[in-house]
Amino acid sequence: MKEAKKLNITKSLELFEQAKKLVPGGVLGARKPSDFIEGEYPIYLEYGKGCRLTDVDGNEYIDFLCGYGPIILGYREEEVDEAVAKQIRDKGFCFTLTQRYQNELAKKLSQIVPCSEMSIFLKTGSDATTASIRIARAYTNRIKVMRCGYHGWHDWCVEMKGGIPAKFYEDVYEFRYNNLDQLEDLMKQHGDQTAAIIMTPFGHPLHQKMDVPKPGFLEGVRALATKYGAILVFDEIRTGFRLRLGGAQQLYGVTPDLSVLGKGMANGYAISVVTGKAEVMMAAAQKLFISSTFFPNSDGFIAALKTIEILERDNVLAKIWERGEGFLKKIQSIIDKYPVGAEISGVAPMFFITFKKDKGETHRARRDEFYTQLIRRGIFFTPHHHSYICYRHTDQDLDITANAIDESMAYLNEKYKVSF
Ligand SMILES: Cc1ncc(COP(=O)(O)O)c(C=O)c1O
Repeated sequence: MKEAKKLNITKSLELFEQAKKLVPGGVLGARKPSDFIEGEYPIYLEYGKGCRLTDVDGNEYIDFLCGYGPIILGYREEEVDEAVAKQIRDKGFCFTLTQRYQNELAKKLSQIVPCSEMSIFLKTGSDATTASIRIARAYTNRIKVMRCGYHGWHDWCVEMKGGIPAKFYEDVYEFRYNNLDQLEDLMKQHGDQTAAIIMTPFGHPLHQKMDVPKPGFLEGVRALATKYGAILVFDEIRTGFRLRLGGAQQLYGVTPDLSVLGKGMANGYAISVVTGKAEVMMAAAQKLFISSTFFPNSDGFIAALKTIEILERDNVLAKIWERGEGFLKKIQSIIDKYPVGAEISGVAPMFFITFKKDKGETHRARRDEFYTQLIRRGIFFTPHHHSYICYRHTDQDLDITANAIDESMAYLNEKYKVSF
């Protein structure tokens, strides 16, 4: 199998050189070139439609990052964009007071998300996870927090601790997904001072294989939270409106006290929510201040209402699962053909291809080569983050992608002789 031709990303690289003088590091956070493969992936995109993206050099990709999660339908989904444009044109979206759509969206959530009785709307996932912790602390009058997963960039939970006084995170303890014993030990030590257990109900640790809950794991966490009087928060920023309309809590049948959702809810428009039991949520009205200039803007509400309407009307998630399951089976059969140590983890709507460690420790090289071959073939997965399937990925798009995966693995198989 021939090596695929390197992409021309000249304009991306030029823009990045300019950006380095204007923006610290050129590009922030997860979009920085070192989070992909430097010199191979584009850095700037020009436009997108459906499941496809075009970069500033004119290269087109079938994209599986979906804007890092919010794109559940597709890029430039006309019905959603038109509903927002109409709102902006005919009524306006940024006002002195709140518009009525918050009531409509809160009502809708209470019908579809199992834990939802009352809701607070914010803009980002980090807003929402931080608000959920503040609510839990106010409600319980306790301080400690047990956490599992990525919950955003705020002081109490971000992985890189630069610029943060230790006292802002020293009452926060991490536990590993699917490790109930570890959480049980932590709760034995700190349970009576623990305000919240916050976790992603589905395991998607940074840069690592994805993990479905072991039988009894989520139920066990629920029982521990109840036993010690801590608030259980499911961080469904990625899984909400994706694994099921009501999130992973609906799929796995375990109901938290609070939940945070965002990303997929509005197909790319900025809105997030903390939603949950009324008794706990009421702490937000009585004991604390959660407010921002932009929280009530109605563009996000309109986009969320329209996105949810489409998800329900067109049975979108069932279709994503069906297509995705077929696709994952195909990838597994490709992986079985080539002994290059590739593994696929996750579930149909969100999955990840990773590489097993071998005796010669070539796993990073194999990973980077695989993803290089894929991006050169116009398939936008990344080595450090799992992929998503959205509604606008057609069977044909998935076939093209499976073919590119097959070619890339075949190339890898010729290049590396791996022993485990
Ligand atoms: C599970 C989870 N929680 C919280 C966040 C933070 O969301 P945001 O980046 O919108 O602040 C993310 C973002 O990727 C996430 O995946």
